[in-house]
Amino acid sequence: MSGIYIHVPFCRQACHYCDFHFSTNLSLKEKMVEAICMELKQRKSYINEDINTIYFGGGTPSLLLVDEIQKIIDEVKGLYKVIDNAEITIEVNPDDISRNYLKGLKQAGINRLSIGVQAFQDNLLALLNRVHNSEKAISSIKEAREQGFYNITADLIYGIPGLGKEKWDENIQTLIDLDIPHISAYALTIEEKTVLGKRLKKGHFSPEEEENVALQFEDLVSLLERASYEQYEISNFAKEGYIARHNSSYWLGAHYIGLGPSAHSFNGTSRQYNISNNHKYIEGINTLKPEITIEQLTDLDKANEYFLTRLRTKWGCDLGDIKQKFNLEVDYYIDTAKSFIEEGYMIKEENFLKLTPRGKLIADKITEAFFIV
Ligand SMILES: C[S@@+](CC[C@H](N)C(=O)[O-])C[C@H]1O[C@@H](n2cnc3c(N)ncnc32)[C@H](O)[C@@H]1O
Ligand code: SF4
Repeated sequence: MSGIYIHVPFCRQACHYCDFHFSTNLSLKEKMVEAICMELKQRKSYINEDINTIYFGGGTPSLLLVDEIQKIIDEVKGLYKVIDNAEITIEVNPDDISRNYLKGLKQAGINRLSIGVQAFQDNLLALLNRVHNSEKAISSIKEAREQGFYNITADLIYGIPGLGKEKWDENIQTLIDLDIPHISAYALTIEEKTVLGKRLKKGHFSPEEEENVALQFEDLVSLLERASYEQYEISNFAKEGYIARHNSSYWLGAHYIGLGPSAHSFNGTSRQYNISNNHKYIEGINTLKPEITIEQLTDLDKANEYFLTRLRTKWGCDLGDIKQKFNLEVDYYIDTAKSFIEEGYMIKEENFLKLTPRGKLIADKITEAFFIV
């Protein structure tokens, strides 16, 4: 089973922390939708499997009209067999949510919403330069419920300067109280090229202390665990039956086509990267000369990726796969894990290596230690 990812590279305004590919100039929106549909036709043979998940990400896919979303879904359905209960997700910004829009999304076949809440404090939302305020975040979730969307995930960010423990706990609790069945929470990364990155360089503010960021992560894990969410990936928490199928398939090595500028694709043997430029992307598709970077993956690349993504999940890394799928020696992984296991950062359960709660705090450092060059 495979997935389709559609990158919608437009935003109403640039959030001060965001380094994803997007443009605030919406003039190419119609041409972009045409190009995305054409790209799918051109690249159909990249994957020859039924489609299990479709994911509209961005940028801000909720800037697309319902008709534009419908057109893309119809295109996918015309070219592939999409399974009956496929998960079809769209990332929506709270400011785009209205009753009519939600009704339209439902009719178009969307059955899962990913709402970019980030925080419930107006001063922090302003610091991040989000379009919405706290009241709109809450009313948009309630409206989504009223329109029959129960399968909702919400994004939160922690480690924001000025957030602090009390407000962070409040943000998590608000989502629990709203009965949101899936939550993704990310530590704020301050990227060099963003407004926050430039302000930091000029010394205009201090980032949150690492210790406090770690404490906020610990609060996240414990509050959500107490509320019956399972941490199935470091940043992802779900009530029973609500694990994200699309995102999990990335972590479990399923194949996918990524459409749109900056999107990635993976079919088990190669990774492909579309150009991160709206004009050049459209031109490439229209002239049948798409600018795609292709990376053929060696067994070593695949093993590194497998380890990196699996270790972040509750499923852990299957040492049997290391030998059978990638033809690598298991001893290397067992030896490297030894000190992490002794220090309480990892465990070995049967043939699986997994992170402990302490290990999840330093996951990047641990995966780096296993990386084979
Ligand atoms: C790229 S956005 C796309 C979805 C939608 N436009 C939105 O803003 O909600 C996906 C998520 O990435 C997270 N994100 C983006 N940049 C980040 C950063 N520098 N640090 C932490 N989280 C970030 C935010 O939580 C955001 O909801
Ligand atoms: S966080 Fe979302 S809305 Fe903000 S700039 Fe990035 S993609 Fe756009």
